[in-house]
Amino acid sequence: MSSHLHHFRVWRGDDTKGELVDYPVEVNEGEVVLDVIHRLQATEAGDLAVRWNCKAGKCGSCSAEINGRPRLMCMTRMNTFDDEEIVTVTPLRSFPVIRDLVTDVSFNYTKAREIPSFTPPEGVAPGEYRMAQVDVERSQEFRKCIECYLCQNTCHVVRDHEENKEAFAGPRYLMRMAELDMHPLDAHGNRAVEAQEEHGLGFCNITKCCTEVCPEHIKITDNALIPLKERAVDRKYDPLVWLGDKIFRRSGS
Ligand code: SF4
Ligand code: SF4
Ligand code: FES
Repeated sequence: MSSHLHHFRVWRGDDTKGELVDYPVEVNEGEVVLDVIHRLQATEAGDLAVRWNCKAGKCGSCSAEINGRPRLMCMTRMNTFDDEEIVTVTPLRSFPVIRDLVTDVSFNYTKAREIPSFTPPEGVAPGEYRMAQVDVERSQEFRKCIECYLCQNTCHVVRDHEENKEAFAGPRYLMRMAELDMHPLDAHGNRAVEAQEEHGLGFCNITKCCTEVCPEHIKITDNALIPLKERAVDRKYDPLVWLGDKIFRRSGS
């Protein structure tokens, strides 16, 4: 097995101050960035803080910025870098740093709590819910989300604009609203208009940066945000659509 010393540059610090620190670290064939960060912890930087769990791209914990690009450390293979290329690892930029590579992602939990949960139709008992396969399949894509928050971190609406965070739910949670809005049995009401008026859907100008960084390859913009915007416009400005929606679509039948 071949191995070499690779030049890593890792952000070290806390919520008060920090700096990039250079480390030469051994890299073996087949390794990913997270392996190298773990070796760094085991050798030169025993107190390096890093969040991870599965090392299989499924828990969404090891999100960081690698050479400025938001990625999962466990899914970034070392053989995608030249041997001489410096690998810079920094914490997610849109969330406050706790220490080193660990950020406080509670913004996302706050936004998740603001979305009313699925509202079952009246008069239909659990077990009696019926929906078409096509509707099941449409929302299946969104349920692949591993809550890594790379999309939330990347979206320019909040990336350098702390002041927008209160009004904007971010792509992951607008996608959740789209999923519920597409659900034929959800009786909550106008989720698309709610997304527009209460969760900042209008801030999104469909740049697709969120889609580009999603490790689950969910087409966040094309399949969730754009349809949600279209539905918001339809419902808001077409009284017949709105009325029909109220009377027929939400009847629970
Ligand atoms: S498409 Fe919308 S939500 Fe996604 S990154 Fe762009 S502005 Fe943000
Ligand atoms: S939608 Fe994709 S990028 Fe966003 S949190 Fe879910 S898995 Fe991560
Ligand atoms: S450690 Fe679970 S996604 Fe990377």
